[in-house]
Amino acid sequence: MRVAIIGQGYVGLPLSMAISAAGHEVIGFDLNTEVVTSLNNGESHVEDISDNDLSIGISSGRYLASSDPKKLEDVDIAIIAVPTPLSEDRLPDLTFVESASEILGKHLNKAALIINESTSYPGTLRTVIAPIVQRNSKLDHLFAISPERVDPGNAKWGIRNTPRLFAGMTPEAGRRTEEFYSSFCDEIIEVSSPEVAESAKLFENTFRQVNIALVNELSLICNKLGISAHEVLEAASSKPYGFMKFTPGIGVGGHCIPVDPTYLAFAAKKVGAEARFIEMANEVNLSMPRELIKRIKQDNGDKLNGKKIVVYGIAYKPNISDYRESPSLALISLLREEGALVSWHDPLFQNWDGEESCALGPDMYEIGVVAIIHDAMKVNDMKSASKYLIDCTGKLHGAVNF
Ligand SMILES: NC(=O)c1ccc[n+]([C@@H]2O[C@H](COP(=O)([O-])OP(=O)(O)OC[C@H]3O[C@@H](n4cnc5c(N)ncnc54)[C@H](O)[C@@H]3O)[C@@H](O)[C@H]2O)c1
Repeated sequence: MRVAIIGQGYVGLPLSMAISAAGHEVIGFDLNTEVVTSLNNGESHVEDISDNDLSIGISSGRYLASSDPKKLEDVDIAIIAVPTPLSEDRLPDLTFVESASEILGKHLNKAALIINESTSYPGTLRTVIAPIVQRNSKLDHLFAISPERVDPGNAKWGIRNTPRLFAGMTPEAGRRTEEFYSSFCDEIIEVSSPEVAESAKLFENTFRQVNIALVNELSLICNKLGISAHEVLEAASSKPYGFMKFTPGIGVGGHCIPVDPTYLAFAAKKVGAEARFIEMANEVNLSMPRELIKRIKQDNGDKLNGKKIVVYGIAYKPNISDYRESPSLALISLLREEGALVSWHDPLFQNWDGEESCALGPDMYEIGVVAIIHDAMKVNDMKSASKYLIDCTGKLHGAVNF
């Protein structure tokens, strides 16, 4: 098969590699020409794909990155894997999905199977993607959905062994989608409609968002009680059934957990249903940086004005260089509003927002805040860089627990 993957990011690039390794010819289409050039030079910008993995794909002759829509003309299958963020007023922003659909409609030169892997609200395939493609095309295309479940940095669950949901808009689209995904996935599960698949994906991440908010709330309660939430959770998780452990922190980050539940809430609102848990969970998760600052102030004479503070971790999770929706960014800006002199340390970022990751030396800072810990961080240097060190990960012995 000749397959185009629209978007070469955290989802699209690993998918391109898996599909080309399964023997298909892949065009990795991305509008970002810098990304395309570096991919064709064998340089990967996604942790799950090493430069070596990429070179194997390129040298097989079955992978080419491109920004040229002409390369889409003769593909049999096109997969959409573009961002689905929130707008400034926290509503679904389908700009990228719409533009990908328009490009496909204009440039596909033969009837193709178009599969959406981007996460969006129920009805996106049927009422947004298919109409835009068809409005821009004279051909009759097939449409299906197969939501991506990739967890960047997860060495155990990848594209092949993570069960995959799918649904076609027609039986023919479903049949062809099943045949295609069977060539590189171990288990594929058909559901009765695209809307079920879209909703299942949103609910998976809503489940995490709500449970993370619940343990974040527990950590605030434990702070007041003067006990460690991490110890409480460790104790509770000794129960072998009916309990699943989630870990508190300074909020949720990345392109999924802070975003996807709001897509479900949007869909609920459209049909006059309420999404109270989602709204409350957003509220709790978004309040965590402010709650952390309250605690830091309480422990440091109530004022942060002029204090030298280092925040550890710009990324939203360990060993990933993705800072989208990272709660550390909110924390840094709130600390600066308090008048603190804030530096940050993250070995996975040489530069962020024109600033560089700071050096660490004994007592260089008055306060250290551990948002996340990458394997590449030197814990002993972090411990000696400030006398007061507060840890939001539950992993740093000898630090103040948040
Ligand atoms: N990141 C994750 O962990 C994850 C997991 C599961 C699902 N998803 C979903 O997958 C989708 C993609 O997320 P991501 O993290 O891979 O995004 P990303 O930002 O890493 O990559 C998206 C790429 O799409 C490109 N792009 C945007 N519009 C385009 C267009 N019209 N044509 C061609 N290229 C275009 C961008 O330049 C970018 O390189 C989102 O809907 C997301 O919710 C993400």
